[in-house]
Amino acid sequence: MEKYILGIESSCDDTGIALIKVDNEPCENRLDKIIANTILKQEHPKGVIPEYAARAHHEALFDYADSIIANYKIDLVVYTNGPGLIGSLFVGASFAKSLAYGLGVPSYGVNHLHGHILIPYWLYPNQLAVPYLCLLVSGGHTLLVLVEKINNKFKYIILSTTLDDAVGEMLDKVGRHIGLEYPAGPYIEKMAKQFDPLFKTEAYTLPFAMRNRDDFSFSGIKTAAIEQIDNQANEQKKAEFCYTLQEHVAFLLSEKISKIQQQLNEKFGKDYIKHWVISGGVAANMVIRGKIEEAAKNMNIATCFPPINLCTDNGVMIACVAALEEAGEIQSHNLDEQLRRKPDAQMKLTID
Ligand code: KG4
Ligand code: ZN
Repeated sequence: MEKYILGIESSCDDTGIALIKVDNEPCENRLDKIIANTILKQEHPKGVIPEYAARAHHEALFDYADSIIANYKIDLVVYTNGPGLIGSLFVGASFAKSLAYGLGVPSYGVNHLHGHILIPYWLYPNQLAVPYLCLLVSGGHTLLVLVEKINNKFKYIILSTTLDDAVGEMLDKVGRHIGLEYPAGPYIEKMAKQFDPLFKTEAYTLPFAMRNRDDFSFSGIKTAAIEQIDNQANEQKKAEFCYTLQEHVAFLLSEKISKIQQQLNEKFGKDYIKHWVISGGVAANMVIRGKIEEAAKNMNIATCFPPINLCTDNGVMIACVAALEEAGEIQSHNLDEQLRRKPDAQMKLTID
C-alpha cells in the first residue's frame, strides 16, 4: 500500500520541506519517489543568528507547506527533533504537530543525524551494500560511523569524531575571516577553482592534526589558517589559500577514512565493508568527493554520495528515516542511543 510522508527539517538555518512516496514497487533507485523537495536557504552574511533563523523558518514553512497540503494526500508528518538550535527546532516541531493534528494523521520527531547517515541507503537500496562506513561531514558534525544490519535492523558503531570544531564549522569560520559569506564552504570551493595550481607557492602551510590517533581535530587548522591570511589579502592570494585549505581537508579526510578502513580490514576481513558513504553539507564539495573516491578505489571500495542538493540539510532525509522506521528496518530509539556512545572502545581502532 502506498503512503505519503511529509518531512520537515529546521535544525539550523535551512528550511527543508519534502514529500516522499513509500510503496513496495521494485525500483532502481528512489529519486522518483521524491514528490516535492523545497529547501529555503536563509541569508545571514555573517553567520546564523538563532532568533532570526527561527523566525525565518516560521515564514518559510507557512509559505511552502500550503501548496503541498493543497495538492497531495499526507499520511504522516515527521520533523527534526534534534540536534540543533532550540528555537528553530521548536518552530518545525510545532508546525508539524499542528499540521498533523489538523489533517488527522500521526506525527513524530527524528534525529537529524539519522537523516544524513541513512538517506543514501534509502535512495539507493539496490546499489549500496550494508555494512558501510559512513563519513558524515557537516557544519555541526564530523563522524565516522560503521553502519551495520543485525537481525535486519540497522546498528551504528561510532568509530571516530572530532575533538573540537566540525570540519564545516572550521571552513565557515576561516571563510568569514577572509570575508566570505556564510556558509563559506561553497564559496571556498568556488574561489579554489579560480586558482591555477601551477602558481602554487609555499605561502600557506597547514598542520596535520591527529594523524597518530583515530579522532579528528580542526581547531588547530583554523588557528593556523587565521594566522596566515586575513581579509586584506588580494583575490589571487585568497584563491591560493582556498585551494590549499580545500586540498588539505580533502587529504586529511581521505587519509583518516583509509586508515580506519585498514583497521576494519584487519579486524573483520577485507570483504566485510564494500562501500563508503560520504554525507552532510561538506560532501557537496567536488574536490573532497574526488579525493575520497580516489582513496576508496585504491582500497577496492565503492563510494556512494547523495546528490548534491541532498547532501546539505533537507526534508527528504527526515522523511526517509520515517520510511525506514515504518518498513521495520530501523528502531530510531536504539539508533539514538548508539549515536550518544563515545567512539567504540571495543573496536580498539588506535591508529599508528
Ligand atoms: O549538513 P549541513 O547542511 O548542515 C549541518 O547539519 O551542519 O552542512 C552545512 C555545512 C556548512 O559548514 C557549509 O559550509 C558546508 O556544509 N558546505 C560545504 C559545501 N557546501 C556546504 N563545504 C565545502 N564545500 C561545499 N561545496
Ligand atoms: Zn545537517
